[in-house]
Amino acid sequence: MDARSSTFETLSKRIEDRTARAGIIGLGYVGLPLAMAVARSGFAVIGFDIDPKKIVALDARHSYIDAVTNEVLAAEIDAGRFFSTTDFAGLADCDVIVICVPTPLTKHRDPDLSFVETTSRSIGAHLRPGQLIVLESTTYPGTTDDIVKVILEETGLKSGSDFFIGFSPEREDPGNQHYRTATIPKVVAGDGAEALSLMKSFYGAAVSTVVPVSSNATAEAVKLTENIFRSVNIALVNELKTVYAAMGIDIWEVIDAAKTKPFGYMPFYPGPGLGGHCIPIDPFYLTWKSREYELPTRFIELAGEINSAMPRYVVGKLAEALDIQAGKALSRSRVLVLGLAYKKNVADIRESPSLRLIEIIEERGGKADYHDPFVAEIPPTREYQALKGRKSIGLTPDAIAGYDAVLIATDHDIIDYAALSKSAKLIVDTRNVLSRLGLSADHVIKA
Ligand SMILES: NC(=O)c1ccc[n+]([C@@H]2O[C@H](COP(=O)([O-])OP(=O)(O)OC[C@H]3O[C@@H](n4cnc5c(N)ncnc54)[C@H](O)[C@@H]3O)[C@@H](O)[C@H]2O)c1
Repeated sequence: MDARSSTFETLSKRIEDRTARAGIIGLGYVGLPLAMAVARSGFAVIGFDIDPKKIVALDARHSYIDAVTNEVLAAEIDAGRFFSTTDFAGLADCDVIVICVPTPLTKHRDPDLSFVETTSRSIGAHLRPGQLIVLESTTYPGTTDDIVKVILEETGLKSGSDFFIGFSPEREDPGNQHYRTATIPKVVAGDGAEALSLMKSFYGAAVSTVVPVSSNATAEAVKLTENIFRSVNIALVNELKTVYAAMGIDIWEVIDAAKTKPFGYMPFYPGPGLGGHCIPIDPFYLTWKSREYELPTRFIELAGEINSAMPRYVVGKLAEALDIQAGKALSRSRVLVLGLAYKKNVADIRESPSLRLIEIIEERGGKADYHDPFVAEIPPTREYQALKGRKSIGLTPDAIAGYDAVLIATDHDIIDYAALSKSAKLIVDTRNVLSRLGLSADHVIKA
């Protein structure tokens, strides 16, 4: 057996018999649930993060991610299968290392790969023969091979012989009760046949279905395609919403009827704008990369334009409703924005359109407060510094009645919508929740 095949065989065997140790870098929405799924499948897992507060919380068996309960976390720690640290020296002890760090956009909306690069350098400092390195962060096609691999090969070790490298996109759906990390099919790819084989056996241990594809770039493109598909379709229904509203047609009624077609149609729903860490951001990774090939990404940019115009459209509808129903200008009105999170039943406010709604209402001279059962206070954000520290208003009948309008931005299930409707003077509903609950009324406007 030559050195190359012995490195592969040894790692392969360690993965197969679960004696391989896994390191997960970046213990956020993606990394922590993944760490639990990998630990549950029998591997010893070390979690790495640069944020010491996260490590203190995890040590105290406190999970800050909804998808991971404190009980699950405690069970893995007590079984000796999981611990977390800020000390990256432990990377040398890991056979498989998975990178789950952020991939945001810069101020100029270009890919910000600084987290991926820094992490790759940290791994490079501890790289040894016989390791499998995996990127899970969402990114443009070519990142794994052209950036991560290049940084790791600066050590003098070679991908495919000394170490192995792969990409596997993450498909978390925060708040989704039907799917967990372990039950969502996982696309895997590797740089070369051996890397792919290791990817299949490592992920095959932790998730029920693996979907191998031929290259890391293909797997990177799969993830972007899934998110671009959502962004474009959401933009389409948002555009149809504005057109049908002008014609006196209710978009939600249209969608409910259209989705009875058993083939060739898939429902997407309009809203106050796109939110979350993925859909508003990831498509622009492809736009940026396409420039290198002098190719435009017109669908992506048009979808971005339509979706980011939604908060202004919704506030326009709110102003119109205040005018018509209350004879009151928005500039003299108090508005309660209901729901700060970008989607229902979660606490995540990243890129949430609710922040933009508050900003636009106040730019137009109105006064806006918010209520969100999951977000007690607005944390510091890069774009909305002026909103930092504002607190969620208690949702009492008196408080509700004190506002000129309630703007439903997020349809959290926990809200008592019947009580809300009873106390509110005017409701602008961007999620169709009141109609869905049979609570349509003259003072409820859809937007
Ligand atoms: N949140 C989702 O639902 C979701 C879904 C699919 C894909 N993704 C992708 O997964 C990646 C991670 O996203 P997330 O939502 O988990 O982000 P997150 O912000 O929740 O977590 C990232 C973690 O990485 C840590 N970190 C940052 N730099 C680090 C470094 N140099 N070394 C170690 N840790 C570091 C942060 O402290 C944080 O805990 C992104 O590429 C994202 O696009 C996210």
